[in-house]
Amino acid sequence: MSILKIARMGHPVLLQHAQPVPDPTDPDIRRLAADMIETMLDAGGAGLAAPQVHVPLRMFVYHLAPQRVSGAPGDEPTEPVVLINPRVEPSDVAAIELGWEGCLSIPGLRAAVPRYVKVSVTALDLEGRQLAFEAAKFHARVIQHEHDHLDGVLYPMRMASSNADLRLFGYNEELARYATDQP
Ligand code: NI
Repeated sequence: MSILKIARMGHPVLLQHAQPVPDPTDPDIRRLAADMIETMLDAGGAGLAAPQVHVPLRMFVYHLAPQRVSGAPGDEPTEPVVLINPRVEPSDVAAIELGWEGCLSIPGLRAAVPRYVKVSVTALDLEGRQLAFEAAKFHARVIQHEHDHLDGVLYPMRMASSNADLRLFGYNEELARYATDQP
């Protein structure tokens, strides 16, 4: 396994519409997923999408640490998960909440980003099996954030398109000092 280089905001690979993974069981995809998990854990991120490591394919990895999740149904801790060719649909388009979000491609900053509270997810795993589940709260946020990467969308772009309050976008240290925990 190896640590991969993470593209930072401004690199055009982050703006591409990623292509479907042709064969999720391809050993190269398994190797890429393992490297992405190692890279995500090394960098201290909750998730990492393939375009962030310069591979414009529709797959991402994430993990949910016990201290990040609410423990509500659909928002429980998990070991690293790999989702290939995911589809993400809001369960209730009216249920939206703000939450703090960072991105390994935008190091040092975070923002309060509006996301759907619950989403239903379908995807393939590394065995080519179909997965279907509902994710809520932080779990749903991570999935929406990573899924946006597959369509070339970074969280500041999501904030702009949803008319979010851009005053709640800043450096981690300053926000830790001046912002309340709940945006
Ligand atoms: Ni990101």
